[in-house]
Amino acid sequence: MPIENPFQDPLRFERRVPECAIAIFGAHGDLTSRKLMPALYRLAYDRRLSAGFAVIGISRTAMSDDQFREKMQESVKQFSEDTTFDADVWKAFASGLFYVAGDIGDAALYRNIGAKLAEVEQARHTGGNVLFYLSTQPSQYAAASQGLGAAGLGKGNGWRRLVVEKPFGHDLASARELSSRLHEVFQESDVYRIDHYLGKETVQNILAFRFGNGIFEPLWNRRYVNHVQITGAESIGVEGRGAYYQETGALADMIQNHLLQVMATIAMEPSASFHANSVRDERSKLLRSIHAMTPDEIRQNAVPGQYGPAKIGGEDVPGFRQEKGVDPQSQANTYAAVAFSVENWRWAGVPFYLRTGKRLPKRVTEIAIQFNPAPLAIFEDEDGPGSAPNLLIVRIQPEEGISLKFLSKRPGEGMTLRPVSMDFNYGSSFGERSPSAYETLLLDAVIGDPTLYTRQDMVEASWAVVEPIQNVWRETKFDFPNYAAGTWGPAAADEMLARRGHVWRKP
Ligand code: BG6
Repeated sequence: MPIENPFQDPLRFERRVPECAIAIFGAHGDLTSRKLMPALYRLAYDRRLSAGFAVIGISRTAMSDDQFREKMQESVKQFSEDTTFDADVWKAFASGLFYVAGDIGDAALYRNIGAKLAEVEQARHTGGNVLFYLSTQPSQYAAASQGLGAAGLGKGNGWRRLVVEKPFGHDLASARELSSRLHEVFQESDVYRIDHYLGKETVQNILAFRFGNGIFEPLWNRRYVNHVQITGAESIGVEGRGAYYQETGALADMIQNHLLQVMATIAMEPSASFHANSVRDERSKLLRSIHAMTPDEIRQNAVPGQYGPAKIGGEDVPGFRQEKGVDPQSQANTYAAVAFSVENWRWAGVPFYLRTGKRLPKRVTEIAIQFNPAPLAIFEDEDGPGSAPNLLIVRIQPEEGISLKFLSKRPGEGMTLRPVSMDFNYGSSFGERSPSAYETLLLDAVIGDPTLYTRQDMVEASWAVVEPIQNVWRETKFDFPNYAAGTWGPAAADEMLARRGHVWRKP
């Protein structure tokens, strides 16, 4: 059972990994190498792993335990961005790494996993606690869970939980179907759907900022907020994931999950407490208040884009259709902008503009809350009235921090105003390293704290507003490419805001 009262749970505050085994399906894949292993190694480095800890890597490729350890050592060296490699820490950590090879559809694999778990429980004293982590092709999630169930591994003498990577389905019906297949083996409270944006320190800080302070909440509503812009921009292209992107597109890859979760965190009602379900109920309620648009509304309020070739910094950058594995006529979106509206008393009439894209000018994720102008302009504003609105900017990455933009008197004669900024910067204020999202989330899952994980109802609520857009886009033939690599997306996205008298920020 998830822990409902954090005050009864010392683990949640000490934040140490208890005795357990983490069994990773897809251990040969990219995510394991780039994110999961470096995160686990960092926890070892910080002395946060209990002695009774083990990892069992599972994938199709045949490997011995030692070969797996070697491969993981390479990954940790290559992808641990801010953690030095310490040979002693690695040695102790690596002694808890094991490997099982097999096919997800083959019952023998689960017998072997069962045997390995029993062996590890004896040798390492993991207490029979197991976190299964699905990081395979999404089409294999249900089969893996069923395989575990059929082999009786969904239950044991300790706790059993299941972490599932995104995407959770490709539309509402498939998301429901996936949940019901998982529920045949794991109850909802033991299913941890990971959205790594929720594990980012700065996204968690939104809760601290909003609900740990008294001064912002009174302004946090339709009376004072003019509109909100949430940007998740990336400068990289599809990086060898052309075939995946062609299937999925930016709307489903980034907006359906990450950006809608960020929006829910910024717009949700205050949670009565910091208990997992209390926070998740509010996020869920907000997602369910987003208006699901009709096809006509979608044509007005959602814009897809696809990047074309360009020269950036003297180098030729291919367009999406020239990327490996992509159909030269592809209609997939690598950019998506949507104007959502929230149908509740707090936000009625306030547009929430969400946009994301590959090959935009820079990597930046931020939330910009634009406030209404002063009712009367009695001063001269350098660039004309309304040219520099009050803005609260939450920078999720990079240069994590919060800025408030307002007008100030220019020194000297007259009353001329100029925009200035009050800045909080994570790095300089705290001078400490922030844990990676995967460190936070893995630790939460083994502790049994699902606050930062998405629940079935949230996933379904997100699909309910995204799927109608997907459907309209699928039926429309777009004149792609409609933005050059290295620019801020298609002109149609600017026009969408201009119709409401707004402009996109250029972060
Ligand atoms: C992933 C998407 O979920 O998030 C990728 O599939 C995207 O396409 C990535 O690049 C962005 O994550 P981050 O943490 O680098 O902003």
